[in-house]
Amino acid sequence: ATYETLLVEQRDAVTLITLNRPQALNALNNQVLGELVAAMTAYDADDSQHCAVLTGSEKAFAAGADIKEMAGQSFAEMFSGNYFAGWERFTATRKPIIAAVAGFALGGGCELAMMCDFILAADTAKFGQPEIKLGVGPGMGGSQRLTRAIGKAKAMEMCLTGRMMGAEEAERAGLVSRVIPAAELLDEALKTAATIAGMAPLAALANKEMVNAAFETGLAQGIQFERRLFHALFGTADQKEGMAAFVEKRPGNWTGK
Ligand code: HXC
Repeated sequence: ATYETLLVEQRDAVTLITLNRPQALNALNNQVLGELVAAMTAYDADDSQHCAVLTGSEKAFAAGADIKEMAGQSFAEMFSGNYFAGWERFTATRKPIIAAVAGFALGGGCELAMMCDFILAADTAKFGQPEIKLGVGPGMGGSQRLTRAIGKAKAMEMCLTGRMMGAEEAERAGLVSRVIPAAELLDEALKTAATIAGMAPLAALANKEMVNAAFETGLAQGIQFERRLFHALFGTADQKEGMAAFVEKRPGNWTGK
């Protein structure tokens, strides 16, 4: 498929998706949402693809939801159209997605990065939830995912002041997994994605589900969920292969079965 607001390419088992609306700093309008959901659905369905990288430009991962598209909407239009609900189809993606963030990740851009499984940040990355400056608040999960990621004190300060957080602070706070020099961000993200794509595919799906369960359940229930999935993986050929490969001191040869 070809898209107007995205570039999508496959590099072996890694799907690279680049937001490509440079004239609006990759602001997320309905077209971008529709195309991203379509690209993620295709990625999830493609048996040859095992990890995705979502990135933007050097200047902006995404500068937010599209303010010009939203500005004139009434409450009735927002509510009846369930504006932003479509993003739940993005987070329904079962395979891993890495956000590779350089430059601005503001408002919906920060929220989109947080919808991915983890964030690799260039040293130029700037995160923020500046919606309060527009007379609103986060609308794509920021008040919830940012608070879970960095705790109440920092999340509340970020939402109430709209200030931006640089990459170093974001790493200290636990928002991003690593900070990388901007010139190396994409290579490092693709390398990390290739590592993940080299794992047993069903185990990757299971690991993603397990970690995400930590945000939805109490501890005992989450551990029970983890253990059941762990047990279930013993029904896969790749568990037999992975453990045999360890004993035989060779790399695993996965079938995804
Ligand atoms: C629509 C946007 C946009 C956005 C930038 N642009 N952000 N268009 N929606 N979120 C457009 C600008 O209007 C401009 O178009 C072009 O992109 C370049 O932007 P500039 O402002 O000229 O660039 P610069 O001076 O470098 O400033 C960069 C910036 C600034 C600091 C990132 O653009 C900015 O503050 N953007 C808005 C950030 C924001 O508030 N995001 C949260 C959005 S609300 P023209 O046509 O003039 O050249 C959101 C939350 C959703 O995401 C929840 C409900 C609201």
